[in-house]
Amino acid sequence: MVPPYYDSLAEWTEIVPESEIRRLLLYNVKYYFGGGKPGCLPIDTFKTILRQIANNLDTIGIDILNYGPTSGLLSLKEVLGERMRRNDGLTIPRGPDDIIITTGSQQMLYALLDTLLRPNDVIVMARPSYLGFVVPVTKLGGNVLTVPSDMDGIIPEHVEKAIKLCKKELNRIPKAIYVVSESDNPKGTTLPEKRRKALFDIAAENEILLIEDAAYREIQFEKAIPPIKKFDKENKWVAYLRTSSKEAAVLRLGYSILPDEIMTPVIKDKGYLDLCTPSFTQKILEIYYKYHIDNVLADNLKIYQKRRDAMKKMIDAYFPSNGSSSTPTGGFFFWFQMAKESFDSGKFMEEKAIPNDVLYVPGKAFYPIKGYSVNAGDSILHGNRIKTNGMRISFSFVSSQTILEGMEILGKLLQKEA
Ligand SMILES: Cc1ncc(COP(=O)(O)O)c(C=O)c1O
Repeated sequence: MVPPYYDSLAEWTEIVPESEIRRLLLYNVKYYFGGGKPGCLPIDTFKTILRQIANNLDTIGIDILNYGPTSGLLSLKEVLGERMRRNDGLTIPRGPDDIIITTGSQQMLYALLDTLLRPNDVIVMARPSYLGFVVPVTKLGGNVLTVPSDMDGIIPEHVEKAIKLCKKELNRIPKAIYVVSESDNPKGTTLPEKRRKALFDIAAENEILLIEDAAYREIQFEKAIPPIKKFDKENKWVAYLRTSSKEAAVLRLGYSILPDEIMTPVIKDKGYLDLCTPSFTQKILEIYYKYHIDNVLADNLKIYQKRRDAMKKMIDAYFPSNGSSSTPTGGFFFWFQMAKESFDSGKFMEEKAIPNDVLYVPGKAFYPIKGYSVNAGDSILHGNRIKTNGMRISFSFVSSQTILEGMEILGKLLQKEA
């Protein structure tokens, strides 16, 4: 007999599917192009840092093994604030205490939505988009409104049109626009400066929050474009999210700058999600960001770039030439789309790729399970538009040699379907 508590779980448990990426993380294949896992981790540096902490634990242990402030350790915020000022030209509104440390930037994405959304509120984003943001919108009772993106990322004119149609048809102003400004997940695209400015102007003119998720900000192979946040002189329209996961280590630590108005309620929300992010890991990262990151990153970027180059070479040589591919200038991902609309990259992966030891993430995972959509020629809002012919292929985790081998196999298998 099913116990009554199980029979009546929260409604979202019936709507929200298991995360495709969490499911795929469980596979053990040779050619792993699946999750966005960093393949270069600062192991030797961490040995040094941990020894340093161990040597000082008698004095600092009482603080770093304890509960800390919900919004994070001030000493870490000072280091991060200085780094963002120096490298990205950002000023932290009232000083470093305005940075919020979270348990991964995933927690900030969730807490922001949890704080912003009333039932049926609308969030505008690209189609496809990072599934860790798309799915919580639905889970928390909001509506996703997607617009097309090209190989430069989300297209501002379509965002503008989506806002107009949302006002006209749903009689509401979207609550937020979500963008991944560089090396997008899943498409690997980077927004040009002109689009960044246009998106900021759209957000400010329409008085909508712009959520700038800069998860791959430090994993850049070319000179980085200033963040959208830089236009937000009054700290009013842009929530700026960063994470240590891709650039340092997956210690579950994100850092954000939010407009004053939403900062206090978001921290209140975080207090109920986890009380605080562990002080111990914050201390490790404080030392890492203060003394080591530039040296380690310089080496890691060379490795990631080599892996990106290997993947590009194999896409050009072996993938169907009538398909389309992004050319990432950083981050962890390529996006490849087969020309044939009817191609199902999920089915193909189960039937052809996995038996050949190859794993990627089928593109369908990055489309909302329900919601509205706008396309270039539309004059009304349409229902959800899902495409199955795309795939996200990650170059971050395995060696260049493994990429060369695995991508040849994948390319040849795809040729048979083109
Ligand atoms: C675009 C984007 N945002 C946010 C996250 C969450 O990162 P974390 O919670 O590890 O900080 C990820 C992780 O893959 C991501 O790709």
